[in-house]
Amino acid sequence: MASSGFGFIILLFHTLVVFQCFWCTSTRGINDHQRMQKMKEDLHHMNPNDPELQVFFTINDLKLGKKMPIYFPIKDPSTSPPLFSKEKADSIPFSSSQLHKLLDFFSFSDDSPQAKAMESTLRHCEFKPMKGESKFCATSLESLLDSTAAIFGPNVPFKVLTTNHLTKTTTSLLQNYTIEGIPVEISARRIVGCHPLPYPYAVFYCHSQESDNKLFKVSLVGENGGKVEAVAMCHMDTSQWNSDHVAFLVLKTQPGKSSVCHFFPADNLIWIPSPPM
Ligand SMILES: *[C@@H]1O[C@H](CO)[C@@H](O)[C@H](O)[C@H]1NC(C)=O
Repeated sequence: MASSGFGFIILLFHTLVVFQCFWCTSTRGINDHQRMQKMKEDLHHMNPNDPELQVFFTINDLKLGKKMPIYFPIKDPSTSPPLFSKEKADSIPFSSSQLHKLLDFFSFSDDSPQAKAMESTLRHCEFKPMKGESKFCATSLESLLDSTAAIFGPNVPFKVLTTNHLTKTTTSLLQNYTIEGIPVEISARRIVGCHPLPYPYAVFYCHSQESDNKLFKVSLVGENGGKVEAVAMCHMDTSQWNSDHVAFLVLKTQPGKSSVCHFFPADNLIWIPSPPM
């Protein structure tokens, strides 16, 4: 059985690899042919030798001076889908059973890449959580905060962590980064991780699992001089993960034999109790 960590990383890669900047290309008005071409190229990238998949490492790599290749996708916020108010978001159905109506509403044909992306997003949001996992999809800032608060429980203040690019970067580039300071572990009793899914308006997929995860803040400097204050998560117990998981291919290891860590892209939100309890 795949663990929820597995599910999360697969989702992460759906977002990173297949759908990266997907709606923004559609809003830039490129034609269907170009869009299909891009989609094909993106799908072609789903192999373990692809740069975008080299983002896994182990907890032993989190050391001052360590150099490793990392790919941080950079998205242009001006082309991100709009964040709706709760009122507006709640006025539009958010269910795969309403997909046809939704496609009409947003003027996408049934067999368009956007239709496939919307269907995929709705289905991800409808999957039942795994054992020990809480999950939700948020379609507005209010619902994001309310649902996150519900996971932490009553009267638990919480705050958000994100990966920050400290230097202006406009292009995504796989490059070697060096860890510039001693990585700082951030203690958190519970972690809620949220990442955007492709949809005509902003949708965050969030989940939290009760398993052995560690969070770190890591200062990195790229070969191009770009500085990144990154948030990393290490999954310490991978024994329940599927042995086909791409992380094991990249790290040349097996379930349960090694921790699996990854950095969060800048558009992910990592919520933790504040102060940590
Ligand atoms: C990173 O550095 C290693 C060794 O110095 C080199 O072999 C590798 O090609 C570099 N990777 C990238 C993406 O620049």
